[in-house]
Amino acid sequence: MSEIQGKNIVLAITGGIAAYKTPELVRRLKDQGANIRVVMTEGAKAFITPLTLQAVSANPVSDSLLDPAAELAMGHIELAKWADMILVAPASADAIARISNGLANDLLTTICLASEAPLVLAPAMNQQMWRALATQENIERLQKRGVTIWGPGAGEQACGDVGPGRMLEVVELVELSVGFFQQSGIRALAGQKWVITAGPTREAIDPVRYISNHSSGKMGYAIAQAAARAGADVTIISGPVNLTTPTNCERIDVSSARDMHKHALSLASQADIFIACAAVADYRVAEVAEHKIKKTDDNDEMRIELVKNPDIVADVSKLNDKPFTVGFAAETQDVEKYALGKLTRKNLDLIAANNVATEGQGFNSDNNALTVYSKDDKYPLPLTSKSELASQLVNIIGQQFTKRQ
Ligand code: C5P
Repeated sequence: MSEIQGKNIVLAITGGIAAYKTPELVRRLKDQGANIRVVMTEGAKAFITPLTLQAVSANPVSDSLLDPAAELAMGHIELAKWADMILVAPASADAIARISNGLANDLLTTICLASEAPLVLAPAMNQQMWRALATQENIERLQKRGVTIWGPGAGEQACGDVGPGRMLEVVELVELSVGFFQQSGIRALAGQKWVITAGPTREAIDPVRYISNHSSGKMGYAIAQAAARAGADVTIISGPVNLTTPTNCERIDVSSARDMHKHALSLASQADIFIACAAVADYRVAEVAEHKIKKTDDNDEMRIELVKNPDIVADVSKLNDKPFTVGFAAETQDVEKYALGKLTRKNLDLIAANNVATEGQGFNSDNNALTVYSKDDKYPLPLTSKSELASQLVNIIGQQFTKRQ
């Protein structure tokens, strides 16, 4: 279970166009199990309504320091004490300046001053306002005081400028929040290098066609995210997927099984742990046509000759300095028998087996169930989200790896 579960976060929203992203931020933080109370400045209310944020947070929104009714419900000091973290997102240049100067001229700045909770700012402003010496000095001063600054990102801005000043994306803020609480817990995998293959491979038939499979890459990416959160140095060798790279992970994009094999073999000998989560095509086209293959009128059949691809995980486990190696077995029948067969045949340390014929789990689904086997042990991990399952799996891998050291 993630450390953010049950944590109290005050989300303080200031006036900036990025405020339109905050309802989604609230939803995603709540998905992670956090309790959210929203504080808004007057400026924030010009961009987004308190009613929206009340609805998504399922809590009243606080927006005034001097409202007797609100003070009676949960006063500003109470709110400041309730918080395990105060996240100011978006943090405008004005809010940054006021917080940095220790002002208490509205509810937001008063709570920042009155709370012992860690303070995190996600700046969002025009690139020139961000670059301005006044803003930079304020940021530096805040950092010296131990305030955490997330972002800003760079790119196209609402005003049309391009440069630094964009609020980080919601997924990034959620990931950083989860990691923030994790840091105060155990970073059990600090110093370990994990290499993970993920997603499908594509085997070209001609310049426009290929053979592939339904792997979404979600399981491999969830494992990468869980390992990175626990402090591991993670590289994903990724087939073509539609996923964003998890925070603090390196990603190498590949297409074919041979591409993936080349990168895996070059990285694996420096890795502590290698996880083969990719759905690698077992065969590739013997001779890839140089030009698009044309349909012919005189023949209703077409034959493509296939040859075997290298087995990436089996080759990794043959290395002299073999990392702790984990494979996956996606089966439609006799799951345990086939999984144990692969464990031995591919010389793996662990194998995670799942039944992809079962509705609602496996390929492309957000949920999965696995049974993890070593030579001597068996760990059933029942159906849950891929993200939760990945945390459980990463724990088992981490423990088994330490046991072998
Ligand atoms: O395809 P198979 O069921 O044998 O896959 C079992 C494990 O082997 C998986 O972890 C998969 O990522 C890995 N594998 C591989 N290279 C292949 C085929 C499978 O690394 N060519």
